[in-house]
Amino acid sequence: MVADGRTMISRISFLMLGAALLAISPVEYGFAQSVGSSDTDLIERGRYLVKIAGCNDCHTPGYVQTGGMVPEELWLTGDRLGWHGAWGTTYPANLRLYMQGVSVEEWIQNARTRQLRPPMPWFALRDMTETDLRAIYSLVRYLGPAGEPVPAYVPPEQEPVGPLVRFPVGSQ
Ligand code: HEC
Repeated sequence: MVADGRTMISRISFLMLGAALLAISPVEYGFAQSVGSSDTDLIERGRYLVKIAGCNDCHTPGYVQTGGMVPEELWLTGDRLGWHGAWGTTYPANLRLYMQGVSVEEWIQNARTRQLRPPMPWFALRDMTETDLRAIYSLVRYLGPAGEPVPAYVPPEQEPVGPLVRFPVGSQ
């Protein structure tokens, strides 16, 4: 495999990071010790997880329609496509903004306990390992804030505006 300049630089930085970590005592580097990964590993795992655990499918505009060809800078910026059913209308949140407002501990606590409305698979977050939750958090914080907030939840008795995916009546 031919490595381009950027790959070489990132490999060299990675090696330097590794060397730097060896120089730091385990006490100072307690967090990474406890999950057994460096920050770079966590971000890379987060990148993998949001691709295969479906987060991008709903939270990234156009991701499904383009077969996943959305640049990473736009990942998880939320979608204005509403999901309409017996629960009302929900909009996949802008996770790039959401993660700015929570610490990693709050994120893990929320993921374990919050029951969100359909079609958000909240049970997938509940059942994730702590390392995987930390990995998703690391990636989203690494990507940084971007985009706008999505429309607020609309209760069943109110008529939503904008494009909608309608679940069949009586499906729930
Ligand atoms: C099938 C579509 C779908 C998939 C897949 C999905 N989400 Fe969601 N998500 C939603 C919707 C819709 C909401 C809004 C739910 C509500 O209003 O209660 C939401 C809400 C959330 C929230 C709450 C944000 C807030 O502002 O409180 C978080 C966090 C979240 N999703 C994370 C994830 C992660 C991480 C994944 C991948 C493991 C994921 N979602 C996969 C549709 C989805």
